[in-house]
Amino acid sequence: MAHRPLEVDLSGHVAMVTGANRGMGKETARELARMGAQVVLACRSKGLGESAAAEIANSTGNSRVMAMQVDLSSQASVHAFASDFLERFDKLDVLVNNAAASLAIREITSEGFERHWATNVLGPYVLTKQLLPALKAGDEGRIVTVSTLAAGGLDLTDTQYERRRYSGTGAYRASKQASRMLTWELADRLIDTPVTANALNPGYVLTELTTNVSGPLKLLVKLTSFKAVTPLDGADTAIWLAASPEAKRETGKFWNKRREVRCRFREPRAIQELSKLADRQTGLTRPSAFGRPQRR
Ligand SMILES: NC(=O)c1ccc[n+]([C@@H]2O[C@H](COP(=O)([O-])OP(=O)(O)OC[C@H]3O[C@@H](n4cnc5c(N)ncnc54)[C@H](OP(=O)(O)O)[C@@H]3O)[C@@H](O)[C@H]2O)c1
Repeated sequence: MAHRPLEVDLSGHVAMVTGANRGMGKETARELARMGAQVVLACRSKGLGESAAAEIANSTGNSRVMAMQVDLSSQASVHAFASDFLERFDKLDVLVNNAAASLAIREITSEGFERHWATNVLGPYVLTKQLLPALKAGDEGRIVTVSTLAAGGLDLTDTQYERRRYSGTGAYRASKQASRMLTWELADRLIDTPVTANALNPGYVLTELTTNVSGPLKLLVKLTSFKAVTPLDGADTAIWLAASPEAKRETGKFWNKRREVRCRFREPRAIQELSKLADRQTGLTRPSAFGRPQRR
């Protein structure tokens, strides 16, 4: 779907987009800045983040765009980043969990987790929980998680691919299923607060994530590239969920092209089990009354 620019005034709003130095994250950040929000680009590389921030400020005329460094595959980095953010900002109106890793080879992070799981599940999980006080501090808080229709294959008994033969695509898809399930759990727990949590499918976009592949996948990308939309078009639903008045009260839903679509991953017991696992893997206890999560 072609991007339809929103005519919304976001001045006074603070927004954060992870993985905003390129691809859809950058276009999401640009649109939020164009509408007047103060935008934090949460990027793995400080230099790339700063270049993107300068480019966005230049193209939108909004100078309140800044980069902050975070490596989402490292919980230590996420904790340091969130503390730094909470010291600098009183509130957060929009958090777009956009960044993701997609790798062909199994990698283990220095904290001992399979890299897709660390980057796409645990990092955003910790980040979102740490930022909840800021999200609740404004009139509304919107958590937007970029997922994919291709999510699936999660095995809660082997999230680290220790037992099964590793597949990069499999690990990516499973991590995207998990992040959706954690979004539903979060939306449920935040139901009595002004904070909403939604997930979306952006569609097929030729970015590094899809084109930096080898073997049969490279041929597949070549053959299907005519179906791809631009990064801005792919970012349309994320931008809409982050900024449109229509989406303000929507929560716990999965979206495609600004429309709610069915999500298969809503089994309460599996969600509960995953959420307990994520708490164990991140050393977070359950926040009491949605307060600041405590380290165990
Ligand atoms: N492209 C598609 O067709 C498609 C389809 C469905 C869903 N999606 C989802 O859309 C979102 C955006 O993807 P995209 O296609 O725009 O990808 P992209 O252009 O490859 O951008 C990915 C972003 O994630 C960042 N990132 C990766 N690992 C990180 C880490 N450890 N810490 C912090 N940032 C990290 C990257 O930073 P670096 O520059 O430092 O690597 C980059 O900014 C992802 O969630 C993806 O799963 C994409």
